Amino acid sequence: MKTVKNTLVTNVKWHEAIEYAVLKTKHNLSRYKQKFPHIANDKCYDWGDNEDWIEGFWTGIVWLCYEYSGDEYLRLQANSQIDSFHRRLQNQHALEHHDIGFLYGLSALAGWIIEEDEQHKLLALRAADHLLGRWREASGLIQAWGPEDDPENGGRIIIDCLMNLPLLYWASSATGNPRYAEVAVGQAELSRKFLVRGDDSSYHTFYFDRSGNPLRGGTHQGYRDGSTWTRGQAWGIYGFALSYRHTGNLRFLETSKRLAAYFIERIPADGIVYWDFDVPVTGSTSRDSSASAIAVCGILELLEHLAPADPQRQRLEDVVLLTMSALAESSMSMAQEYEGLIDHGSYHVRGDYGLDGYMIWGDYFYLEALLRLEKQIPGYWYERGSSSQEGD
Ligand code: GLY
Repeated sequence: MKTVKNTLVTNVKWHEAIEYAVLKTKHNLSRYKQKFPHIANDKCYDWGDNEDWIEGFWTGIVWLCYEYSGDEYLRLQANSQIDSFHRRLQNQHALEHHDIGFLYGLSALAGWIIEEDEQHKLLALRAADHLLGRWREASGLIQAWGPEDDPENGGRIIIDCLMNLPLLYWASSATGNPRYAEVAVGQAELSRKFLVRGDDSSYHTFYFDRSGNPLRGGTHQGYRDGSTWTRGQAWGIYGFALSYRHTGNLRFLETSKRLAAYFIERIPADGIVYWDFDVPVTGSTSRDSSASAIAVCGILELLEHLAPADPQRQRLEDVVLLTMSALAESSMSMAQEYEGLIDHGSYHVRGDYGLDGYMIWGDYFYLEALLRLEKQIPGYWYERGSSSQEGD
C-alpha cells in the first residue's frame, strides 16, 4: 500500500497528538461511563444516550485509541458500548434514518475488523439489512430521513449518505449477496448525477418524486438552496473515494477528485474552512473544523488511489499538512479538562444550533486522519487488506 507519510514533512509530531487524544479519551470514559458525547459549545460535551445519528463516532474513537495503544481498558470499553448498539437495533430505537453506517460501521463493524468476533459481524450485517430497508424501489433511492410516507422527505437524498454506503459494500463481500452493493452503487450513481454540479460544487440534498423523477436540489444545513455546504462537500470527497475503493468504478474516483479540487481552492490561509463556501465571511462567521477533518481523511483515501505522477497529488498533500498541522497545534494547546479534541466545529448554523464548538464526528475524523498518517490505520470503512480496485 502506498502511503503519503513519507512525503509529508511537518513540525507537528503526530504521535504526540495521538497520545494527547488517547489520554483525553480515557479521562472522558472514566468520567462518563456509558454515556455518549454529542456536541459542545464550552469546555464540556453534552453527554447523552444512544439515540442520535452520532454515537458511533465515540465508539470509533475508542477503537482507534485501542488500536494505537493496545490498552486493554479501551478494548473492554469499546466492546461494552457495542451492547448498547445491539439493544438499539433490537428495539428499533430512533433508527428511522440512513445514518446506519455511521452508527454500526464504527462500532460493530470496527469490532469485527479488530476482534474478529462473529457477534460483532452479525450485528453489522443486521444493521446493513436495516439500511437496505431504506431503499425505495419505485424511486430508486435510499431515503435519508423519516418514514416512507413522509411528505417532505419521502423522495429526498442527501450527500452525507455516501458515507453510509461502505456498510452495504462490506455486507455484500461478507455474505456473497450482491444486493447490498447494487443498492450502494445505485445510490452513489444517483448522488454523482444529481448532487454534484457541473462546476464541481455540490447540493446538500436533492428531491425526487415517488417515481424517481428529479425535482430540485436544496439544502438542509447549508447557507441557501444553491450554496455549497462545506461539510457536505467533504462527505462527498470521502464518500466517492470509498465508493471507488469498493467498486473500482473510475467515475467515482474522478468525482472525488473534482470535489476535492473545489474544496481545496476555498480553504482559508489558516487551514480551517468556514461552514459554507458561499456564506459572506465576517469576523463572526462560524468555521467547521469537522469539515476540514473529514476532507483530510477523504484526501488521504484519494491519495492512495492516485498515480505517483498525478498532477493533483502535491497540492493535496500540501493541504493535508496545512490542515492537520493547524488542527493538531490547536488541539494540543487545549488543557486536558477541555473534553473535545478539535474546537471550532459547527453543526447546524442555519438552524442556529451548534455554532462553534466540539463536534464528536470532528474529533473522530481528526483522530482517524492522525492514525492514517502515523500508523496507516484507515478507520473502519473497509476490511484491512482489502485491495483497491482496478485503475490503481
Ligand atoms: N450527517 C449530518 C451532518 O453532517 O450534520
